[in-house]
Amino acid sequence: MKAIVISEPGKPEVLQLRDVADPEVKDDEVLIRVLATALNRSDTLQRLGLYTPPPGSSPYLGLECSGTIESVGKNVSRWKVGDQVCALLSGGGYAEKVSVPAGQILPIPAGISLKDAAAFPEVSCTVWSTVFMMGRLSAGESFLVHGGSSGIGTFAIQNSDS
Ligand SMILES: NC(=O)c1ccc[n+]([C@@H]2O[C@H](COP(=O)([O-])OP(=O)(O)OC[C@H]3O[C@@H](n4cnc5c(N)ncnc54)[C@H](OP(=O)(O)O)[C@@H]3O)[C@@H](O)[C@H]2O)c1
Repeated sequence: MKAIVISEPGKPEVLQLRDVADPEVKDDEVLIRVLATALNRSDTLQRLGLYTPPPGSSPYLGLECSGTIESVGKNVSRWKVGDQVCALLSGGGYAEKVSVPAGQILPIPAGISLKDAAAFPEVSCTVWSTVFMMGRLSAGESFLVHGGSSGIGTFAIQNSDS
């Protein structure tokens, strides 16, 4: 498969599209053919050499993705080949395929395109859980978003305005 590889720590120019080995799929994992991924702060920090993914993670960037399930491990019963899903990743979204534990897979929310769902597991869920579940933002209240130009900030501003 092809993946975006960090050739050396640095600016965006260090990212290179290369042929790499396909990921292995463990018994409790599924293999997703990636349609779309997202850009989070950790990706830029990893590119700069300032963030190390957890042991055993894919070496490639990408903490969330959407796509179609291409194969399932033998312990996985909830998902099947051909399902369109999104997933929270410990890395590996910047590749044509990624293997991920089945418990980190989510269905595509109604009314959301498969492409847009790539930003659902990390960005959307972070904003929703902090602003609405923990913060309980309600109609008529004001809401200050620090770092409003961030990925998290832009999503929070768009979705707290309705
Ligand atoms: N992305 C996620 O899913 C996620 C999940 C959990 C927690 N978080 C946390 O949420 C925060 C935002 O994450 P993100 O992924 O949305 O990041 P991001 O898109 O990279 O945005 C970073 C933001 O920080 C601002 N910033 C950077 N350095 C600054 C400085 N020295 N002074 C003032 N502002 C500065 C940037 O401003 P400029 O645009 O002006 O440079 C930008 O608004 C981070 O603390 C991250 O750890 C993110």
